[in-house]
Amino acid sequence: TTERTLVLVKPDGVRRALTGEILRRIEAKGYTVVALERRSADADLLAAHYAEHEGKPFFAPLLEFMGSGPVVAAVVEGNRVIEGVRSLAGATDPTVAAPGTIRGDLARTWDTAVVQNLVHGSDSPESAAREIALWFPSL
Ligand code: CMP
Repeated sequence: TTERTLVLVKPDGVRRALTGEILRRIEAKGYTVVALERRSADADLLAAHYAEHEGKPFFAPLLEFMGSGPVVAAVVEGNRVIEGVRSLAGATDPTVAAPGTIRGDLARTWDTAVVQNLVHGSDSPESAAREIALWFPSL
């Protein structure tokens, strides 16, 4: 099934100049970047994007981190791409993310309030539709 997913290169990835490396891995896997934009996300967009995490202890630090610099947002298309991008990204916690994954190979673990793990990928078809509408309303 051809699907679309929302990918964000988070501020740590942009700061470390890993945007190309992250998108390279996604394209090398056979997926297509159909929209791409570098952008400084405002608090409203981030709160909407992460609405499901409201109330969690890392919610405020997460919004602060995601607003700490530009992100690169992309819509990526391909067969089973939602699951595929999450597999490429690896586990949320960079310490245990498998080698070979984006986070396992490239993310660093810091003693911070929020997991800075380089990349976001939508976790379900419902999340993908919602997130793509938020970040790319014209698509
Ligand atoms: P992401 O896939 O973008 O979705 C929510 C983000 O919150 C996640 O990546 C991490 O950056 C962060 N996160 C998730 N769980 C935790 C946690 N337990 N502590 C701190 N940050 C977290």
